[in-house]
Amino acid sequence: MKVLFVCLGNICRSPTAEGVFRHKLRAAGLEDRVQVDSAGTGDWHVGKAPDSRTRQAALRRGYDLSAQRARQVEVTDFQRFDLILAMDQSNLRNLQALRPANARADLDLYLRRYELALDEVPDPYYGGEDGFEQVLDLIEQASDALLVEIKGRL
Ligand code: 4NP
Repeated sequence: MKVLFVCLGNICRSPTAEGVFRHKLRAAGLEDRVQVDSAGTGDWHVGKAPDSRTRQAALRRGYDLSAQRARQVEVTDFQRFDLILAMDQSNLRNLQALRPANARADLDLYLRRYELALDEVPDPYYGGEDGFEQVLDLIEQASDALLVEIKGRL
C-alpha cells in the first residue's frame, strides 16, 4: 500500500502529513507494509528541507521532518501510489488536471475524505505561528482516520 500527500510547495502541509502518518504507522507496527511520501504541485522549493517553522512545530509534538526533501508531483505518481491525498481544493484541481486516464491511484481531499470539521488544510506559509499548530491539529485527526482505513485495506 502506498500513500502520497500533496500540497503546493511540499515544505509545510504535505511534509507534515507524511511525518505524522509515518509516526503513526511505526507506532502501529505497519511501517513495513505502507509506504508514505509527499510532493508539491509547484516546483519552487524542490530539493529543500521543510520550512523551519513547520519543522519546529512538528518537533515540539515529536515528529522529526528534517530528513525530508521537497519534490514536485509527477504523472508517474498516479501509477506508483494507491492513494493520493490533496491538502486543499486548489491542489486537488491541479492533480485532477495532471491525472492520466490509466491512473491507478485514488485521488481525494484529505480532510473531506474523513468528514472532519474543515475540508481543507489551510496554507500556513504567509501566516503566523497559529497556522502551523492548526496544520498539525488537523493532520493528526486525519491521520488517525487514515490509519483506521488503511488497517481495513491491508
Ligand atoms: P505548502 O505551503 O503548500 O503547505 O508547502 C506553501 C509553501 C510555499 C509557498 C506556498 C505554500 N510558496 O508560495 O512559496
